[in-house]
Amino acid sequence: MSAQTGVPVLILREGSGRSTGRDAQRNNIMAARTIAEAVKSALGPKGMDKMLVESSGDVTITSDGRTILDKMDIDHPAAKMMVEVAKTQDAEVGDGTTTSVILAGELLGKAEDLINKGVHPIVIVEGYSKAADKALGTLENIAIRVKPLGKEFLKKVAATSMASKLVSENKEQLAEIAVGAVLSVAQKVGDGYTVDLDDITVEKKPGESMSETRLIEGLVLDKEVVHSGMPKRVEKAKIALLESALEIKKTEFDTKINIERPEQMESFLREEEGMLKAMVGKIVASGANVVVCQKGVDDMVQHFLARKGVLVIQRAKESDMKKLGKATGGKTVTNLEGLMESDLGYAGLVEERKIGDDKMTFIEECKNPRSVAILIRGSDKRFLDEAERSVHDALCVVRDVVQVPTIVAGGGAPEMEIARALRGYAETLPGREQLAVRSFGEAMEIVPLTLGENAGLDPINLLLELRARHEKGEKWAGVDVFEGKIKDMRELEVYEPLAVKKQTIKSATEAATMILRIDDVIASGKMKAPPIPPGGMPGGGYGGMPPEY
Ligand SMILES: Nc1ncnc2c1ncn2[C@@H]1O[C@H](COP(=O)(O)OP(=O)(O)OP(=O)(O)O)[C@@H](O)[C@H]1O
Ligand SMILES: [Mg+2]
Repeated sequence: MSAQTGVPVLILREGSGRSTGRDAQRNNIMAARTIAEAVKSALGPKGMDKMLVESSGDVTITSDGRTILDKMDIDHPAAKMMVEVAKTQDAEVGDGTTTSVILAGELLGKAEDLINKGVHPIVIVEGYSKAADKALGTLENIAIRVKPLGKEFLKKVAATSMASKLVSENKEQLAEIAVGAVLSVAQKVGDGYTVDLDDITVEKKPGESMSETRLIEGLVLDKEVVHSGMPKRVEKAKIALLESALEIKKTEFDTKINIERPEQMESFLREEEGMLKAMVGKIVASGANVVVCQKGVDDMVQHFLARKGVLVIQRAKESDMKKLGKATGGKTVTNLEGLMESDLGYAGLVEERKIGDDKMTFIEECKNPRSVAILIRGSDKRFLDEAERSVHDALCVVRDVVQVPTIVAGGGAPEMEIARALRGYAETLPGREQLAVRSFGEAMEIVPLTLGENAGLDPINLLLELRARHEKGEKWAGVDVFEGKIKDMRELEVYEPLAVKKQTIKSATEAATMILRIDDVIASGKMKAPPIPPGGMPGGGYGGMPPEY
């Protein structure tokens, strides 16, 4: 109809923007690469930290890729996909978020060069997918098998993950703690082990120094002992875990009791006291000398229990009750009537301590606890936050290796080895796919290059020497960022989980190919954002939608 009358048919609301074909691709690639540029300087032990200031004024100091991107106010849809890369990486393996984003950016950069040479994006996508399979295979081939519960390598892996963080000075001590924590909660399943990181509680309290950070074989409760007359320290504690309140239940509706004589009042009160005393009697009879109650504890019960020398914590969180069960081996009891000695948990020591400005109760020295805690200390709040993120990374990499006990050396060595393997593999492929596979390999080299650049090394010399040494069969040759030389990374004990390296490739390839497949962007009229100037934002930042939007 419209063709006959010449009247255009409008299917998009007024103000909508559309960019297609090369324009759409160029914009998306530029936005994604800008994101990668923004995190590049944070990679590796010589990487810099970023200070992120939110509109509320909150300040975060971090070098963690995921956190940097989380805190940036990103608007562009393709740029947001890069944020997803970091999130996926974090959720799957917990480390390598910066690497995966940088790799995705570089894969797109190389793809753009190929598109400019006339290679169709779909050919690139197919080539990249083959190259990624080969890369994963190469990693499997070079990976080193370790013992799942072998402390030596687990500690090295944990220390490597923290080498690039603000806490690097304390990495040995923190690595020991992280390994201790993960091994405590590891469960044997079939031939292997699984680790649920929810069984490790990480608490942080300002004060003291990082070296005072401790692993607690049990739990720390952000609670104080309820009554001043109770002991603050109980050794060889037998702990009753109670879900119900130690109070007399108030009725749900108002009731009136008519009392006519003073004796009636007295007997009423006596009865109430009798019921409360019976509760105390039950607890004492079970042999418990510590009570952790999820609900409230009546003043009179507190008083009687204090007289019996029982330490009581009230209003504990439900999640903490579960963890206490796992840590102490106790069973949470719903009805006090049913409390028996066999329900009690055990801890070598329960003690209230003053930590910073607060009082906390430590339930520690548990026997074979299946739930443990790490208490991080440090002088500054922002430092503590970053330390918590770094400990999280360390716990994740140790878990990764306990679950899949294979590792690779780092420092860009595995990426160089992939690049070498892909150069050979590309030769075997016909036509343009060969170009895509070769480009994928070259993109991998961005990891050692960035590590070197951040350490102030000359990129060209670095790359040439690394390539030459890998061709000679030195598969673990990587960048020694401290000495400024190329070295066998095993000598430096820089080890990472195979799972992390594999995931960086998977996440980066997925994002890059997803972005490459888009050739039409239709944005609703509501989206208004300042354009990116040609070449990205100054300083690598991102300002919003590109001009075509
Ligand atoms: N001593 C070292 N020498 C050389 N390279 C190292 C050393 N320690 C760590 N690396 C390398 O640093 C890289 C990791 O850096 P970083 O931890 O900053 O980024 P990421 O792990 O990719 O992301 P994030 O930790 O932010 O999630 C890895 O390639 C690792 O092999
Ligand atoms: Mg890391």
